[in-house]
Amino acid sequence: MTSVTSPATGPAAAGPDRTVPAFAVITGAQVQRALHGREKQITELVEAAYRLHGEGRTVNPPSYFLRFPDRPASRIIALPASVGGQVAVDGIKWISSFPDNVSSGLPRASAVLILNDPVTGYPFACLESSIISATRTAASAALAADRLTRTRQRPRRVGFFGTGLIARYIHTYLTGTGWSFDTVGVYDVSADSAAGFCGYLRQAGTPGEVTVHDGPEALIRSSDLIVFATVAGTPHVTETSWFAHRPVVLHVSLRDLDPRILLESANFVDDVEHCLKAETSPHLAEQLTGGRDFLDGTLDDVLTGRVRPPADRTIVFSPFGLGVLDLAVGKYVHDEVARTGELHVIDDFFHELRRYG
Ligand SMILES: NC(=O)c1ccc[n+]([C@@H]2O[C@H](COP(=O)([O-])OP(=O)(O)OC[C@H]3O[C@@H](n4cnc5c(N)ncnc54)[C@H](O)[C@@H]3O)[C@@H](O)[C@H]2O)c1
Repeated sequence: MTSVTSPATGPAAAGPDRTVPAFAVITGAQVQRALHGREKQITELVEAAYRLHGEGRTVNPPSYFLRFPDRPASRIIALPASVGGQVAVDGIKWISSFPDNVSSGLPRASAVLILNDPVTGYPFACLESSIISATRTAASAALAADRLTRTRQRPRRVGFFGTGLIARYIHTYLTGTGWSFDTVGVYDVSADSAAGFCGYLRQAGTPGEVTVHDGPEALIRSSDLIVFATVAGTPHVTETSWFAHRPVVLHVSLRDLDPRILLESANFVDDVEHCLKAETSPHLAEQLTGGRDFLDGTLDDVLTGRVRPPADRTIVFSPFGLGVLDLAVGKYVHDEVARTGELHVIDDFFHELRRYG
């Protein structure tokens, strides 16, 4: 026998009377409401997902890149994953990157996340996911900034290299998890982007001095915590001497740094197999050296205390971005929206529910 459970009861119970979960659509406005102002909680949730991943209680196959010969700057990436433990959800994020959107005032990335019930396999939610994706990326960056700087003086000078939507979310997550800065440096090849980001900083009431730099060198040399969030496809920062003050670098956009800069730094990634792919700077460093000795560990190694980040070297954190984080945040959003009774359930979404009619 089959039946459809109410969404509030969540995924179906195991056993012969398996039930089909209700299917809900969760809008960006609902996602934003569920996540708003919860930076600490979401950063803890992302840490828990990293730990599950480190314990082998996740499945996170390689992302699949759909590219277009006639539109080489654009791509759509599929990130299938499964999270065990208390989260217990399977699913996939399907995220587009169309950088030319930005000139029309549209965000570069758009995404949906599908959550699947781990008992029946049935999808039970489709969520707007550009906000979830930016949120998990920012929470991961804030977590890394905290844990990678615990062995050194906490940075008071932050620099944002590339100032789009991801930079904005990372700033929100840094300040929302307790960071404050004496100076905020800004650099972007687009004066409009830099001005937009400064407008956001003003609106957010950011304390400290904000400086827009007219070149990369000044930004890097004047920052102890540097966030790379550009859309560069190949390394454009090549001067190792700019990092002589040994900053901590959150290399979120993955392809900005010449591999020789990585070879002079301590390197941490979220997942080794994921990160050493797709011409990221760590991938280029592997190709240059023929090995992985330049890697010091994963973020999970730092979280669990297996590896102590050095105080006397530049640190570069290169997170490839794991689908398990999207699922963990997406499941949280789903459960929050269900808890408040605001799930938009699509009646009769699954219709052919008897094998023989
Ligand atoms: N690692 C992860 O988990 C993860 C997750 C989400 C996004 N990202 C990456 O974050 C990056 C930023 O995303 P976004 O949505 O903010 O993009 P965006 O297009 O909104 O902003 C990117 C900004 O970078 C600027 N820029 C481009 N090239 C530059 C250069 N050489 N020097 C300085 N500035 C430059 C652009 O002018 C733009 O303002 C993308 O590369 C994206 O793939 C990574």
